[in-house]
Amino acid sequence: KKIKIKVPATVANMVCGFDILGMAIHEPYDEMELKLLDSPEIIIKHEDRFGLSEDPSNNVAGVVLQHIQQHLKLTTGFEVTIRKHIKPGSGLGSSAASAAGAAFGANALLGNILSKEEMVHFAMFGEELASGVRHADNIAPCIYGGITLVKSSSPIDIIPLNTPDLFVAAVHPQVEVKTSDARQILKKNILLKDAIEQWGNIAGLVTGILKNDIPLIGRSLNDVIIEPVRSILIPKFEEIKAKSLKMGALGGGISGSGPSIFMLTERKQTAQDIARMMKSVYDDIEVESLIYVSKIN
Ligand code: HSE
Repeated sequence: KKIKIKVPATVANMVCGFDILGMAIHEPYDEMELKLLDSPEIIIKHEDRFGLSEDPSNNVAGVVLQHIQQHLKLTTGFEVTIRKHIKPGSGLGSSAASAAGAAFGANALLGNILSKEEMVHFAMFGEELASGVRHADNIAPCIYGGITLVKSSSPIDIIPLNTPDLFVAAVHPQVEVKTSDARQILKKNILLKDAIEQWGNIAGLVTGILKNDIPLIGRSLNDVIIEPVRSILIPKFEEIKAKSLKMGALGGGISGSGPSIFMLTERKQTAQDIARMMKSVYDDIEVESLIYVSKIN
């Protein structure tokens, strides 16, 4: 028995919803093939060039499968072949894709015995291995699709929202920003006035998504807590954001913990123009970058 799946990249936080909002996009995506084995071993094969560990205890997909195997007391094992196109460390949910893909694929091979919440639960062990934190804001949209709200990750309470018909321009500048470092630098206390502004934005964004109110989505994409601290890790962040808004983006910001930057647009052409502009800004300072034009998926 085997299954082949495509696992989407995800944009966590969606600017104001740190650790609670996330969306799946249709490009880039990873390809995974999972096979059920008669013996209880777990074999991981990476057909990509990122040099990720193939030791199951040290591999994001591997630990997810180990937990599923132990929990369900399985006598069978899994062989997983991963062709990664979502670059690790991009802020586009590369580790979440491996983790969610492993949980989703194993569940399909086992006859769909797990609920979506259970798949999220197991996939979070992969995120823990990758970043030290059991956050679900990338995993949830990867498994549910579209935009999801992680109302709580313990106990797991996921609210799938809508999938607005919007385009996404994203750029991944090739600078290193580790999720653990990008979390370390955050302030542990916030001002009440900032909290008020932030929850206004989050409530506005969720309402905009549910009512398909595009201007409301646009004016809610502001982050007064995380972005001012993290954006200093990303060269040219302010310039790219300002230029994107001028070119007609609804709004956007850091994708997950960075260094990727994303912008939402109503028209595909605007997303394509913004993606080209993003690339040229990094070309000018001789920083390699990858660009994506995608849709919420
Ligand atoms: N919500 C997490 C963060 C996502 O921003 O640190 C990490 O991919």
